[in-house]
Amino acid sequence: MNDTPQYYGTISRLLHWLMALGFAFMAVIAALFATDDKYYSLMDYHKLTGYFLFILFWVRLAWACANRSRRPHNDLAARLGHAALYVLMFAVPFIGLLRQYGNARGPLEFGGMTLLPAAAEKITWMTELGGAAHGKLGWLLFALAAGHILMAVLHQIQGKKILNRMAGPRR
Ligand code: HEM
Ligand code: HEM
Repeated sequence: MNDTPQYYGTISRLLHWLMALGFAFMAVIAALFATDDKYYSLMDYHKLTGYFLFILFWVRLAWACANRSRRPHNDLAARLGHAALYVLMFAVPFIGLLRQYGNARGPLEFGGMTLLPAAAEKITWMTELGGAAHGKLGWLLFALAAGHILMAVLHQIQGKKILNRMAGPRR
């Protein structure tokens, strides 16, 4: 279950692949938004998936901290790349949720449950920050994730078998 210096354990793998799936879904929806305004009809799915990715982020961060001394070691470039992904996995949905709150247009709900209430009145700095940064940082996150995937595949081809740390046999 725990990570080891040779590979990531079950929980790290589950979190990594579940969130990778979530971000792939977000990238498709964001690309559709950028293609045609009619796809803004998918906004509820975007917000809900983003909300759950934000919750999963905290679980993943806590698990990463708990396994810090056990997980596979990486060089500085990979460590910086992973750290940047963590910063963006926090900042993008956080800024999205701040704008949602500050817009004061009603709560974010799912199945009759309030996930996030709305401010009583519009909070301009929150909506402005959202408008200025959410989408741009979101695209930066997707670009970095694409680079990350490319590096994982390149390392695998070069025989470093990095993929085996996150998938496949545990030895
Ligand atoms: C990890 C989570 C998220 C990612 C990666 C993400 C990514 C993006 C991207 C790339 C865009 C720009 C699409 C375009 O260029 O047309 C966008 C737009 C948008 N997102 Fe998110 N988002 C996330 C979470 C959220 C959350 C939690 C909310 C609100 C509850 C939200 C609300 C919006 C809104 C209202 C827009 C349209 C306005 C704009 O382009 O800024 N997003 N998102
Ligand atoms: C097909 C898609 C993906 C592949 C093949 C892949 C592959 C991998 C591999 C092999 C590792 C272990 C690297 C090592 O320790 O040297 C890893 C770790 C990591 N990956 Fe991915 N990845 C994918 C998608 C993503 C996405 C979409 C994100 C985030 C947006 C992401 C974020 C991370 C992070 C932060 C780590 C560090 C370990 C952790 O804290 O979970 N990956 N990935």
